[in-house]
Amino acid sequence: MLKLELQRFSGAEVLPLFEGGKGISISNGETCGAWAATGGVGTFSGVNADFYDENNNVIPQVFHGKSRQDRRRELIEYAVAGGIAQAKIARERSNGKGRIHMNVLWEMGACEEIINRILESVSGCIHGVVCGAGMPYNLAEITSKFNVYYYPIVSSARAFSALFRRSFQRFKDFLGGVVYEDPWLAGGHNGLSNAEDSMKPANPYLRLVELRNVLNSFNLQKIPIIVAGGVWWLSEWEDYIDNKMLGLTAFQFGTRSILTTESPVARNWYEKLMSLRKGDVLLTKLSPTGFYSSSANNRMIKRLLELQDRQINIAENSSISIDIHGRKVFLDESKAKLMNAWIRKGFSTPMLTPDNTVVFTTPEQSEKILQDQRSCCCCLSACRFSSWCQHKGSTGRIPDPRSFCIQKNLQAIAHGGAVEENLMFVGHCAYRFSEDPFYDNGFIPTTQQLIDRIITGY
Ligand SMILES: Cc1cc2nc3c(=O)[nH]c(=O)nc-3n(C[C@H](O)[C@H](O)[C@H](O)COP(=O)(O)O)c2cc1C
Ligand code: SF4
Repeated sequence: MLKLELQRFSGAEVLPLFEGGKGISISNGETCGAWAATGGVGTFSGVNADFYDENNNVIPQVFHGKSRQDRRRELIEYAVAGGIAQAKIARERSNGKGRIHMNVLWEMGACEEIINRILESVSGCIHGVVCGAGMPYNLAEITSKFNVYYYPIVSSARAFSALFRRSFQRFKDFLGGVVYEDPWLAGGHNGLSNAEDSMKPANPYLRLVELRNVLNSFNLQKIPIIVAGGVWWLSEWEDYIDNKMLGLTAFQFGTRSILTTESPVARNWYEKLMSLRKGDVLLTKLSPTGFYSSSANNRMIKRLLELQDRQINIAENSSISIDIHGRKVFLDESKAKLMNAWIRKGFSTPMLTPDNTVVFTTPEQSEKILQDQRSCCCCLSACRFSSWCQHKGSTGRIPDPRSFCIQKNLQAIAHGGAVEENLMFVGHCAYRFSEDPFYDNGFIPTTQQLIDRIITGY
């Protein structure tokens, strides 16, 4: 049994065990409430969360607006309704125990409006807001207004230092903790900087010491660091507990907490999670956010990687050219043979990319890409797939067919869509489901059983 001391988070003494927030609708009010009920910190996703009709059925998020702006307004209303619905469920399920946090992405469309409106309605149900995917400079000011704690997710000491200097230092009272998410191990979007090599993982301990040193330099010795990314058995992290170099630490479980009886996706995802082996989770730069992300290398990801391979540079002048929407485009002639082979196999539709290249798709694939781009509902602040940008209307670059609509994919997979055909975020520790005897014979634990197990160190 590990010696896990209770710690103060978001105004209460709780277990230093966090549920990792998972959008869209994967960590929700049910999972969050169940986690909080064990005495830990539950986290529901406030990213386009589900809301319900009077019979408790999920209301599908269908967009009726003809223009992007109209669909954007619909999306915001859905997101606010979803956040409020999940917060209420979480509070009810928690029986007043533990803490309830809401997770949002800073780069989601209309993030500030959505957090403000959810907190205006149900700040009494939410003790903390956890925010990643971007640099949430205004997060502190927003949550502090509602007496709600905030938890930035960072992947380096440098990122925290920039946030603190520019904004957080004015709102120190409500800084609840800092989530350190290992960018080479964690599921979902990953905060790798341009200077870091996706193939060369750095030692998390050294990065955590660096983060602690930065926190201490700002006189934040009492602020805990929540360690996320690759955490499975706590017995493997004993050195990170009660360690003077790291100060107060807690642990966040993103991938492991997917499989519980309270999880909305457990049954659907179970077989896929159990089939994953080491190396089956890929860190790619395919997300329309422009961030790296970690997901199962399923058919959807394979298709996108193959599309990248069917790519030819545009040339100034050459002996091969193709017609794209009436425009004659010259291509690198050294790739002529390859191009003809792709066309013979049915990848006969060329599409321009913003990087001065052309990719070859099937006519059906191309139509689906265009359809997804046309029906954009502005779920991000800026999207490389559709060129949507909430500040200027467009990023100014042409839409990138090598990416995908993350909104459609995540909504689909959270609501029973095929786990091979949609984006399935998971962390690099997911192979451990098949190796950990805890899950033998198809066992799916309740959240309480999972926490009891985690507390033993395993
Ligand atoms: C399916 C899935 C969805 C996720 N979605 C989000 C999200 O919406 N926002 C976020 O901040 N982190 C998200 N994450 C990251 C987790 O909250 C957590 O920090 C991370 O998974 C920890 O690493 P682990 O997977 O190795 O436990 C997601 C992770 C997974 C596996
Ligand atoms: S196209 Fe991009 S911004 Fe639009 S809904 Fe899809 S992912 Fe979101």
